[in-house]
Amino acid sequence: MGDGGVGRRTFLAAMTGSGAAATAAADPAADPAAAETADGAAGGPEAEIRALVGRMTVAEKLGQLQQLAWTGATGPGGSQTASAEQAARKGELGSVLNIFGARHSNALQRIAVEESRLGIPLVFGLDVIHGFWTTFPIPLAQAASFDPEVARVDGEVSAKEARSNGIHWTFSPMMDVTHEPRWGRIAESCGEDPCLTSAFAAAKTRGYQGGDLAAKDRVAACAKHFVAYGGAEGGRDYNTVDVSESRLRNLYLPPFKAALDAGCATVMASFNTLSGIPAHANSHTLTEILKEDWEFDGVVVSDWNGVGELLPHGFAADGADAGRIALTAGVDMEMVSTHLADHGAELLASGRIKEDRLDDAVARVLRLKYALGLFAQPYVEEAEAVPGPTPQTRKAAREVAARSMVLLKNEGEVLPIGPGKAVAVVGPFADSRDMQGTWAGPGGEKFPPVTVLHGMRDGAGRGARVTYGVGATKAADVVVVVVGEGAKLSGEAASRSDLGLPGDQEELIEAVAATGIPFVVVLLNGRPLTVGNWVESASAVLEAWHPGIEGGHAIADVLYGKVNPGGKLPASFPRNVGQVPVHYNHENTGRPYDPKSPGNTYVTGYSDVERTPQFPFGYGLSYTTFEIGTPKASVARIGAGELRRGETFEVEVSVRNVGEVAGDEVVQLYVHDPVASLVQPVRRLRGFERVALGVGEAKVVRFVLGAEDLGFWTNAVDGRFVVEAGRVDLYVGSSSDARSACTIQVD
Ligand code: GLC
Repeated sequence: MGDGGVGRRTFLAAMTGSGAAATAAADPAADPAAAETADGAAGGPEAEIRALVGRMTVAEKLGQLQQLAWTGATGPGGSQTASAEQAARKGELGSVLNIFGARHSNALQRIAVEESRLGIPLVFGLDVIHGFWTTFPIPLAQAASFDPEVARVDGEVSAKEARSNGIHWTFSPMMDVTHEPRWGRIAESCGEDPCLTSAFAAAKTRGYQGGDLAAKDRVAACAKHFVAYGGAEGGRDYNTVDVSESRLRNLYLPPFKAALDAGCATVMASFNTLSGIPAHANSHTLTEILKEDWEFDGVVVSDWNGVGELLPHGFAADGADAGRIALTAGVDMEMVSTHLADHGAELLASGRIKEDRLDDAVARVLRLKYALGLFAQPYVEEAEAVPGPTPQTRKAAREVAARSMVLLKNEGEVLPIGPGKAVAVVGPFADSRDMQGTWAGPGGEKFPPVTVLHGMRDGAGRGARVTYGVGATKAADVVVVVVGEGAKLSGEAASRSDLGLPGDQEELIEAVAATGIPFVVVLLNGRPLTVGNWVESASAVLEAWHPGIEGGHAIADVLYGKVNPGGKLPASFPRNVGQVPVHYNHENTGRPYDPKSPGNTYVTGYSDVERTPQFPFGYGLSYTTFEIGTPKASVARIGAGELRRGETFEVEVSVRNVGEVAGDEVVQLYVHDPVASLVQPVRRLRGFERVALGVGEAKVVRFVLGAEDLGFWTNAVDGRFVVEAGRVDLYVGSSSDARSACTIQVD
């Protein structure tokens, strides 16, 4: 067996509090005589894992690497319930996904633990992406809060609800950076920036896992989809990704490193190819980078039939080949397809897969189960199963939703809606329950959301009238038009070639505009949309995303001013779909982006649309106004060598609330290296802080910058990170259009 992390600091050591390690020794399957501590010294799970692997047959080892779907397919094919029970009984199954409910999971677990030869428990996985019973806003919405704490709260609430209902492992957080609003899965992402995505990936991981995976209210997290899935050509899901080594390492990999540094226990491989090599077959990413450079000793699970898809990718000749390639490249567990289980014995006997690799994969799966405390306690207490949302979790979801909303326009002081106003709520989503977004958990159906109409009526002050439907607009002081895209139009296998409001929603908005009554457009969507001319006639536009179970209340809180919106866009909104990709972290090119003008004809960009997006990354308004000062660096110059040795410096800037109400501002810091051995983006977000300020209140925000903020990965395949001498421009502001700057010199 390869050194499955023994002697290295394993995630098990990091993730085991009073739980797994201490109690694992009591486990009958272990070999107490050889027991060692978690880090490989005498008395811990690593020794027990080795001893257990040594007792397993080839069929039992291959079974540990198999995950089958219980019910509800989230990919091609159906459920595998019958074969799962049979395999569990034979001790030839490692995991099951899409099972939940304490009674169901205990029943299946009992078969594995009490009827198989070695009694190795199963690990149960489910996509708990933004809520189990309590549905939080979609991840793209949460990213718009620019407050990673909201993701930690979602993770913590979700883990408690899920674990008590038999789930040990969530296939979340998704951390695919993307420049593609056409891609349906942007809804599950944190948008176009690696720094913002990294902060949320780490926070969500901590929320799910806490400090002890064996705790009854924690689940193992899964960093997905490894890697560069968000770079699919045309934003077409599952499609080709051709990426340079430097873009792989500067744009797509950082969030995964952040999640693993936060102790993330598992990683899921992605469906796409990476410059011709499928991610499920890519030893450069799965083994060289993930397992060797980063020393990841957790489990790499395939995506649904991802191993099987090596055949249609044209990379494997048959099932045996697919299983061999995937295991050898670094996949440890096969989701749904069964090529390793079917062909592994013959592959091993013929030397086409190595026993070391097989045993290492098995050890990783067992390590996950030890960390989860499953050997010590494989069952959940049915009486302790959380039955549904509570007032506290609803309150949390409501606060997160309001914090995630982005005010895109507000003229004529229409917002916030004052007391006693007559409000007409109209539009296809005005009283719709379709607000939970893609990948809503079991609670998405079972516990429907508060609709906008319901929330507006609950939130209306005394004397206010809230009516419903276009017919009621005549008597209204303000019309709230609720439009957007349903959950089915976003998420997996939901890419769109048109980013406009579906159907005749734009016509509805124009009709409301024609009444001359001031109106607010509320967007419920899972991706950046292109807005029509109506954006000129609307008094206000609020981006509310798919806000989850308390969406209606949160929207009312913002529209009535109980909450002053402070969110910012995590992804640029294009002016039209032809402009895509349009993102803030682009290169400058050799020609100007400016529109054509006499004597300036050779420009990049389009002749028929402005070069800038409709709304840029980091943009969002407030009911108050802020002034952000000029940034000051704590050094005028700093050595590249000092930075490489870990030296840091500070950039500070003041921010003041100069308006009439309290509110939040997100102070953002961007870096630009104007001359480098690899052309750099015109802006790179390297710091952000959401600050709450009362009227007239000011605060000094400080950012600490180091090598990772000023340097970059080169195109060297073996990974070279460089910090180069030269000028570095530092911009601070309230969006990626930040202009206020200072400069430092790197020597
Ligand atoms: C899906 C998704 C993945 C999910 C898995 C299990 O195809 O790509 O994100 O976790 O299958 O449902």
